[in-house]
Parts: sequence; structure tokens; C-alpha cells
Amino acid sequence: MQILFHGHACFSIFTENNTHLLIDPFFSGNRLAQITADEISPAVILLTHGHWDHIGDTVQIAQRTGCLVICVPEIVTYLKNKGIRNCHGMNIGGGYQFDFGYVKMTPALHSSGLEENGQVIYMGNPAGFLLQIDGKTIYHAGDTGLSHEMTLLGTANRIDLALLPIGGNFTLDPKDAMLAARALHARHVIPMHYNTFPVIEQNENFFSNQLLNYGIPCTVLQPEESFTL
Ligand code: NI
Ligand code: MN
Repeated sequence: MQILFHGHACFSIFTENNTHLLIDPFFSGNRLAQITADEISPAVILLTHGHWDHIGDTVQIAQRTGCLVICVPEIVTYLKNKGIRNCHGMNIGGGYQFDFGYVKMTPALHSSGLEENGQVIYMGNPAGFLLQIDGKTIYHAGDTGLSHEMTLLGTANRIDLALLPIGGNFTLDPKDAMLAARALHARHVIPMHYNTFPVIEQNENFFSNQLLNYGIPCTVLQPEESFTL
């Protein structure tokens, strides 16, 4: 399975039978993005929450490709109002067996709203994803602070790869992301959600080296670089 980083919290996962899953597609307005939203045609989009830097180009990509969108029910309603019909609503703690693998929504300590025409639209609870695909377990934390739920997730699952925010200000910073990685008993970590905006600038290589000191391998990906799991 290939994990391709697009910058920020956006990743493509290519399963062994070549299903393309896209998480939090944020290309337009993302200064780290190396490709545009019309260059990508996933089979499935997974959304952690409704903030603009996560829902991103979802409407445009889903309209063009007809891909399935997996998200909380409030975002399903938002997308249906935009003419997007192929949605699967789920909520925190719930899991569902899709043909490409098992998806479970996990808690995230954050918020979720989208500003349109000067109003904030309520987008439900923010979440993360636990994905069981091709015999491996991947955890995409979404935007979150440190939480005790991570200890539970790490006890109940063998997490082969954790995608963790390290930018701080809105989410975990490097120090808390290290605590998160240890709570999760993560076998491997890829940092995300840093350097996109001035307030979330971090030294990702320092984070990676510190994590190695705890015996947890960490791979820093540049946008459009991929990792084989
Ligand atoms: Ni957010
Ligand atoms: Mn964010």
C-alpha cells in the first residue's frame, strides 16, 4: 500500500488493488500543494472535519468524479446542498466495512465549522480515522489536541502508521505529538499539519529525530513524496 503526502493533512492512500482514497483534499489555497485539485481522481474522499483547510476542494472533486465521500452526517447535509449525492455518513466510535477496507471514526479534540457568506455553518464533530486496509492499520488523527482516547486506541489496535499533526496553535505540537505517538504505541509516524501557515511552522526533522530517540521510526515526507506500508 502506498501513502502519498500532498501537504497539510492531505494524503492519498493507494490500496493493493489500486483503490485511491483521498483524505482531507486541500489543494486550492495550500501553499505546500504541488498539484491542483483537477489533477486528482480518487474513488473515495474521507473528511476528518469541516474546516476549510480539510474540506478544501471536496465539492469540486466530488462533482467532477462522482467519488464516494465519507464524513459526519452534518457534512453529508452540507454536501447534499451542493448537489453531491454519493455520501456515506458515519460518526465517532462507529465503523463500517467498505469494499476497500474497514473505516472507524475516532474522537478529535477540536472544532468544526465552515464560514460562508460571513456565517459559520455547523459541521458536526471533528474526527480522526482508523483505517484497516490490506492487513494494516493506519490512524489519521485529524486536527486534535492530546487526548486519553489515544491510549485506548493504542491498547485496542496495533497501529502500523500514525499520521499526526505537529504544527501546534490549532493542534498537537511536536512535544505533544511525541506523547501521542507513545500513547498510541505507533509502529511508524508521519508528521502533518505544519509549515502550511506561519503560525504552524515547526522543525519536522527535529521532531523526527526526537521520536527516534523514543524508538519510534518517523518519516518526513515532502509534498508528492510517498511511503510504502
Ligand atoms: Ni481544523
Ligand atoms: Mn486544520
